[in-house]
Order: sequence, then C-alpha cells, then structure tokens
Amino acid sequence: MNAPHALSDYAHLVQPDRVHSAIYTDPAIFEQEMARIFHRTWLCVGHQAELPNPGDFRATTLGRQPVIMVRGEDGQVRVFMNRCRHRGMTVCETETGNARFFTCWYHGWVYRNTGPLQDVPGPAGYGADFHKEDFGLTLVPRQASYRGFVFASLAPTGPTLAEHLGPAAKYLDIYMDASPVGDIDVTAGVHRTRYRGNWKFVGMDGYHPHYTHRSVLDAWRRRSGGNMADTHHGDPFADDSGNLTRDLGNGHVLLDFFPGRMGNLDRYLATLRKLPQGEDYIQAMHSAHGEARGNELLAWAGDPHVGIYPNLQLIGVQIRLVRPLAVDDTEVLMFPGLLKGVPASVNSLRLRQHESFYGPAGAGSPDDAELFERNQEGLQASVDPWLYLGRGLNRERVEPDGTRVGLVGDETTQRGQLRGWLELMSEALA
Ligand code: FES
Ligand SMILES: [Fe+2]
Repeated sequence: MNAPHALSDYAHLVQPDRVHSAIYTDPAIFEQEMARIFHRTWLCVGHQAELPNPGDFRATTLGRQPVIMVRGEDGQVRVFMNRCRHRGMTVCETETGNARFFTCWYHGWVYRNTGPLQDVPGPAGYGADFHKEDFGLTLVPRQASYRGFVFASLAPTGPTLAEHLGPAAKYLDIYMDASPVGDIDVTAGVHRTRYRGNWKFVGMDGYHPHYTHRSVLDAWRRRSGGNMADTHHGDPFADDSGNLTRDLGNGHVLLDFFPGRMGNLDRYLATLRKLPQGEDYIQAMHSAHGEARGNELLAWAGDPHVGIYPNLQLIGVQIRLVRPLAVDDTEVLMFPGLLKGVPASVNSLRLRQHESFYGPAGAGSPDDAELFERNQEGLQASVDPWLYLGRGLNRERVEPDGTRVGLVGDETTQRGQLRGWLELMSEALA
C-alpha cells in the first residue's frame, strides 16, 4: 500500500489539532513504528512481582523480538532474547512457568535461568576454541527497573529510564504506594483481550464515557458497593468535576481523577471502614505515610490512570501491557496487582471494581474493544483522511514543569501521546 505522503513526513501526518488516518491504517508506517518505537525506546516487560520464585518466567515480545523475563536462581530478574546461541531457535516455548534450565528443542543446548550455557550434546565435536562461556543467552541491550516495573530497550544507547519517565515516575509511585508496604502481588494471572484495530486506540480518553459508557455512569449514580462508584462520586467525566487530563511529555499522559476523589475522600473512607479490617488499612496507610499523604494516597486508591508510553498503562487494579501485532491487530494484557500488607477485603473490593468495568463480562472494556474495531473500519473511508483532536486546545494550560493540563474530557491526552509518537518517529535511526 502506498502511503499518501512520504513516510518521513510524520510532522505532516500529526499536526497540533489533527492526525492523518494513515498512521492507524498503513502497514508501512506500522513497520516504521516497530523499528523506531518498539525496537528502540523503553518498553515495560512486566512487574518483577509476577516472578516471585527463582525460575519463574514469562515469555513475551518487544515489538517483534521474542524475549524471556526470568528470575534466575540467584534471585535477579533478567530479560534475555529468546533465541538460542546455536542456530537461533526460541529456547522458551511456553508463555509462563518455572524452569531451572531452558533447553533448546532443536539440538538440545541447555541454558541456566541466569543465562550461561550449561551443556551441549556431543561436546567432543567442538574444538578447543569453543568456550561455553561465550555462548550464554543474550541479554537485552538495556534493562532498568522502577518500583519493580521491569523495562527494557533494544537500543544500546539512548535516554535513561529516569529520563524517559520524567515526571511520570511519581504516578508509578501512586500505584505502588496504595500498599502500606509499597509492594504488590502479581501472581493472580492475566486477562487478555485482542481486537482488530490499531494499538494507538488504547489511549486515555475522558471524552467518550458520557456516550460509550453512559449506562454504566447511570448505574454508578444509582448504586454503590463493589463498583467504581465507591471511588468516583457523581460524574467523574464532567467538565465541572475538577478532574483533569495531563500530558507529562514523552507520550506519557493521564486522566487525573485526584481532584474529584479527594473531594470524595470521606465517602470512600466510609466504604473502606465497612470492610472487614478496613479500618486497619486506613491506619496502616497513616502510619506508613503520615495522615495527610496517607489520605491523599487513599483518595488516589492506587489508580493513577496513567499511560507510560508506549506500552504500559496503570488503570485501577491493573498493570496493562499493550502489544501491537499488526497495523490492525492488538493484544492487551491486564494483570491485576494485589496490594501487599492489606486486609483481604481491600483486595477483594479492588478486584470486584476491576471486574465490574474492565473484566471479560464487565460493563466497560468489551465496549471499548468493540469501538476500536469500528474505528478501524471507519478509517478505511479515506477520502477525507483527517481525524480532529482539538477538543480543549482553547483552554489548555502549561504548568511550570512543562505539563500540559486540560479538563478531563479534553483531548490533551491524545495530543500528548501523538506528540510522543512524533518525537520517536522523527528521530534518526542509528
Ligand atoms: S538451535 Fe538451539 S541447539 Fe541448535
Ligand atoms: Fe472506555
């Protein structure tokens, strides 16, 4: 398929208030996204709490490249290329599990879960110049962690993870610090959804809920108890709710529900107090963080609603990883993070909230996947190829740290993600 514009002319395709539909539909641009974004910038591979025991692993991909995230017998979590050093076959064939060794299926080379090559069949066939220590599994070029979130980059050089996250790092803290001990359990498994649409549709959109999720919002107004109404009061997406959108730079964005939730704190604390040992959780948060910060963290409810560009989102209980498979095919993995150091009733409440909206039979996520598919379908009509993303441009403001801020239903988030996209796509390839 021919791109309507030179592929390098990304600035033409992403303008301040509009974007060309080719970036969602053109397979050639998708290939460039793999090379320029997914095979270069920092991607979240997962959270180390997924792998509590030595040998625990999860195989996945960074863009198109297969990797294994594994906790070695020495306790360290590493990300290896899932590629045998002999003739290049994948050495890990299952998605998750526990293994002391990865044995290649093809000719039987055996690797320790810390990386070194342990054994080869028929060693006498290798001469004196063959040294097993030269043939361990290959580490990703760069790996770094923040609060247990494991990130990897396939580029040997580039911004550090701290530079990449910038002001977005504090929202990973919000997620982790809903636990009074600052730690989570991510062993409950994963639920996944796959839709026939472009990966960039998984955005942060505070404008659509009034329409797509109207029936849910009506239900929240009528009842509470185990659903989102316990943390959100009234209509969190109204222009006058006090809630905001933020563009944190580098493509990182959030729907900032903190203003509305802080105003609803007493009601949320009352909900927590009705839970078995709910008061213990509140007290533990106050002792860990002091009363003022503890209350702020309780109001956040561990839900920063942040997108860390390009593939991590922290929404409610979930660590959400976005995997683009093709220009019109995307997989979304949702890992529930349970809080450590809290009564079981608090984790149950959070899980019920997650299920009620995001679960496979939830009132929200299935509708979102459906609309992403219809969006992809609509974009096939390319006679007038522009999408308008200007909502709130007239009232956007910039804070001293450079954060752009809009009202919760403004398209500040879409513009922020596309600005991040444009920066990455426009950088020269090494
Ligand atoms: S390709 Fe792995 S042992 Fe030959
Ligand atoms: Fe939605």
